[in-house]
Amino acid sequence: MKKGFEKYKPFVPVTLPDRTWPDQHIEKAPIWCSVDLRDGNQALVTPMNVTEKIAFFKLLVEVGFKEIEVGFPSASETEYEFLRALIDNNLIPDDVTIQVLVQAREHLIRKTFEAVKGAKNVIVHFYNSTSELQRRVVFKKDMDGIIDIAVAGAKLVRELTEQDQSGTNFRYEYSPESFSGTETDFAVEICAKVMEALGSTKENPVILNLPNTVELNTCNTFADQVEYFIRKLPNRDAAIISVHPHNDRGTGTACTELAMLAGAERIEGTLFGNGERTGNLDIVTVALNLYTQGIDPELDFSHIDHIREIYESLTRMTVPERWPYAGKLAFTAFSGSHQDAINKGHEYMRETKSEYWEIPYLTIDPADIGREYEPIIRINSQSGKGGAAFIMDHDFGYHLPKAMHPEFGAIVQKECDRTGRELQANEVLALFTNEFLNISKPYALSRAKFYEEAVAGSSANLTHFSGVLSVHNDFLSLEARGNGPIDAFFNALRQAGIENYTFLSYSEHAISSGSDSQAVAYIQLRGPGGQKFYGVGTEHNINFASVKGILSAINRFESGMV
Ligand code: KIV
Ligand code: ZN
Repeated sequence: MKKGFEKYKPFVPVTLPDRTWPDQHIEKAPIWCSVDLRDGNQALVTPMNVTEKIAFFKLLVEVGFKEIEVGFPSASETEYEFLRALIDNNLIPDDVTIQVLVQAREHLIRKTFEAVKGAKNVIVHFYNSTSELQRRVVFKKDMDGIIDIAVAGAKLVRELTEQDQSGTNFRYEYSPESFSGTETDFAVEICAKVMEALGSTKENPVILNLPNTVELNTCNTFADQVEYFIRKLPNRDAAIISVHPHNDRGTGTACTELAMLAGAERIEGTLFGNGERTGNLDIVTVALNLYTQGIDPELDFSHIDHIREIYESLTRMTVPERWPYAGKLAFTAFSGSHQDAINKGHEYMRETKSEYWEIPYLTIDPADIGREYEPIIRINSQSGKGGAAFIMDHDFGYHLPKAMHPEFGAIVQKECDRTGRELQANEVLALFTNEFLNISKPYALSRAKFYEEAVAGSSANLTHFSGVLSVHNDFLSLEARGNGPIDAFFNALRQAGIENYTFLSYSEHAISSGSDSQAVAYIQLRGPGGQKFYGVGTEHNINFASVKGILSAINRFESGMV
């Protein structure tokens, strides 16, 4: 036997030089079919019990699935019992069709028809394996033998439907299982014979489900197989083309999307990609990929954490932290440049009132899938100035001016280096509060008043400041005029001998906590040695907030915090 990679035979792709799928675009949602309760369940270490399956079924209905494969009732007592519980307790909404899987074998098909008695809408999904490898190794049959199995199954399914008196609305699905390893011309031949046996028409089409049972090659080769199959299929209008991708090469999503370009109209998959081996296709990812292209996926993932939690508790599987959309870290940025860009994107959207989502690095608004309250930006030693400013804005409502970001960012980074760990949002707030906000030593105002004074012969008023400044245990009465409150206060400070500081910039906004609304003022000063630094003040009145901001900046300098 050959050793290492030499023992693998390369995949032989179908020949389709005039393929058209690369030029297509996805413009609408496919028909979705969840196979969580069958393919997903059969792949669990501990399969779900009846109660758990009912809870999962309800979740799938809430999400909006209209076709749900509920199991393999002829093969397992639990699945039979579960199906009866759904039917007998009227748990299936009228607009939901249940799908039951069965091998194309007589006794199993008969048992399946018994199991679904009383259901309103049913898809009977029968299959047999068609690939060259399975024919040779497992079934030891030639192509004709494999066609006979499928056609006998189709005839029996049709006969039992025709005999049914219960009023169930039956539809059919046939899967040439292991389609990806089947010669595509043979897949066409067997499906065409099944269609004939079922009497499929445009009005009553069969679902032909093409499973990528095992991903054997790159997703473009699967798309070629799907396009080739559709082109060659006789009576194409009498079939709905479905795909059932697995994920052996980690490209289940890509195979699905390319298959849609190639003409697939229906998709089978599971939530978060549960399923045999490396799993089935993750429907959540494909649906939300559509959503981010402005296409309604017709499934509701607006509370993805809730869906993930139920999924995890029922299946005992976990969604990896970096899984698209649903992973705990899917919307978290640690790196400084990413944080900065996300922060700028938020500011841009706020300022321009953009109707479109225009935030770098985030393909979806986390709020659209119910994730608005989690930290999008997390702070560790890799984070930059924008990250800390984002937390202050997003979590606490402080819009730090841009020029302040480097000064605050450096303080935050120093703290990360000191602690050697990630900082929580409340720790970032504590740093801001302790380092910048209303710092009142050595100087504090114990009393302050502003009023406007008319100037004779001028239309402009002067602002008058009077107050008492406490310095250590001394109290100084101050009184001065200026062109505005800040100018008046600076003139008053000069009288107290505090004159080494130059006013550089000022910004303010309102901030509310509960029903209380305050003004916050950010003041940038230049110190005696040319250093630039900030102080921040909050008060109910904007003039007093500014004065406190000035004193905060001066106090920071005087106490060596700068
Ligand atoms: O993966 C597969 O081929 C299947 C079929 C039974 C549809 O699950
Ligand atoms: Zn499968």
